[in-house]
Amino acid sequence: MKKAILLVAFGTTSPEAGKAFDRIDARTREAFPGEEIRWAFTSRAIRAKLAAEGKEAISPETALARLMDERFTHVAVLPLHVMAGREFHGLCRNAALFAQMAGGFKQVETALPLLSSHEDMARTARAMIARIPKDRKPVDAVLFVGHGNRNHPSDAVYAAMNHIVGRMDPNVHTATVEGYPGLRDILPEVVNKGARKVYLMPLMAVAGAHIHEDMAGDGPDSWKSAIEKSGLECEPILTGMGEYPEVAEIWLDHLRTALSRLVP
Ligand code: CO
Repeated sequence: MKKAILLVAFGTTSPEAGKAFDRIDARTREAFPGEEIRWAFTSRAIRAKLAAEGKEAISPETALARLMDERFTHVAVLPLHVMAGREFHGLCRNAALFAQMAGGFKQVETALPLLSSHEDMARTARAMIARIPKDRKPVDAVLFVGHGNRNHPSDAVYAAMNHIVGRMDPNVHTATVEGYPGLRDILPEVVNKGARKVYLMPLMAVAGAHIHEDMAGDGPDSWKSAIEKSGLECEPILTGMGEYPEVAEIWLDHLRTALSRLVP
């Protein structure tokens, strides 16, 4: 058995946001010493931008083809996605096809994304709550800001997360930039409950454009602007979840499960 680990992320062009991937890479190498660890990125646009800057960024398919040429027999793929959305399903499908090719791998196992069970959601919620700035007063609201997708069934994990975090702390909520619940579904409740201040924390692996522009930007349509327009103070936190070791550990547990399924 010649085994490899393939870490797959959407990607980012911001070196600052990329620190989250560096942290995950370091944690993975620590947890699996001596294993072959490779990276791939699912976003075609981000791969093109990185290539224009002279940085190598390959697709999961290219990464798998290379591993196949190098005669690896088993691959565990870890999707660094938050939920099992469109990209995750595309990755699963293509990874499974690689496992079927003649003369190729014996086995390819794709791990689950971050929020794949109630336990994952509760662990993520606890890890995020522990990272809320210590100066926050109990009456002040905290919003975990996810990506979301109104047209995908997995969008429901954000409503589930909102329920789970709300039971841990009634002034902590989950909302998304492109799914349900959105800011407009949550903000009236925050205002009604008498918060003076709202903390925004990314529920995304990296703090990329959605976080810097849609969430924390100075434009009139950003969450920060909408919150300030409601008369509340707003403090955006620009740290992707991948930078928190406690969250990275949940992803690594999913990788451990995938590795344990590999049969020599
Ligand atoms: Co997006």
